[in-house]
Amino acid sequence: MNRKIVIAVDGPAGSGKSSISRVVAAKKDLKYIDSGAVYRAITWHVLDSYGSVDGDAAHHNDLGNIGITQEFSPDGQVKTFIGNRDVSMLIRDEKIAANIGTIADSREIRNFVNTLLRGWADKDSVIMDGRDVGTVIFPTADLKIYLDASADIRALRRIKEYRELGKNVDENSVKKQIIQRDSEDTSRKFGALIKAEDAIYLDTTTLTKDEVIDRIIELITIKI
Ligand code: CDP
Repeated sequence: MNRKIVIAVDGPAGSGKSSISRVVAAKKDLKYIDSGAVYRAITWHVLDSYGSVDGDAAHHNDLGNIGITQEFSPDGQVKTFIGNRDVSMLIRDEKIAANIGTIADSREIRNFVNTLLRGWADKDSVIMDGRDVGTVIFPTADLKIYLDASADIRALRRIKEYRELGKNVDENSVKKQIIQRDSEDTSRKFGALIKAEDAIYLDTTTLTKDEVIDRIIELITIKI
């Protein structure tokens, strides 16, 4: 690919966006940007600094100073930092997922994150995953994918992910959390999860990870 391109991958929690985007990035020489990790990092910072995401703490105005960055490697891996601290593992905690809704609802925080993400995509061809990449962050993306799967399958995938990270999780609480996050993500006033009109809908409930990756690579070849 010679010209700079943007691929937007949106969808609900556990639909496979990040693991799939990583592999597509590595195979197609794109930079992978994990927008959810930015919301997770802000949530981690607010909890760490204020102990809670409620009230004014969620709307504090030092976001520009906390120094959120991502480090991308050509194999598709991404690390998220706050200042010099690598928070990539810390932000995967269940406590972050349970508190992220309040942070992601804030219009000021969303505006801050969108500007930051557009800056990261300024120079390179990118694949970015999230909830509002194809609708708000890059409405003119070259290719938009909307990944979906049943809530049960998404909960099972998330449980497997937590176990691979060595975390012992309660299945029922993970299922409840997926349902709660679906409701938060689809009902927020700004940047709600919604399929862009021109996004290609992929239901991955019965597909393997490799099948989804192949399909996206095929779409890149056909469309770009
Ligand atoms: O990996 P998972 O699908 O669980 O979520 P994520 O991509 O890490 O994003 C975590 C949360 O951040 C989502 O549930 C959204 O509430 C929020 N988010 C958002 O509001 N907008 C984005 N572009 C990406 C994430």
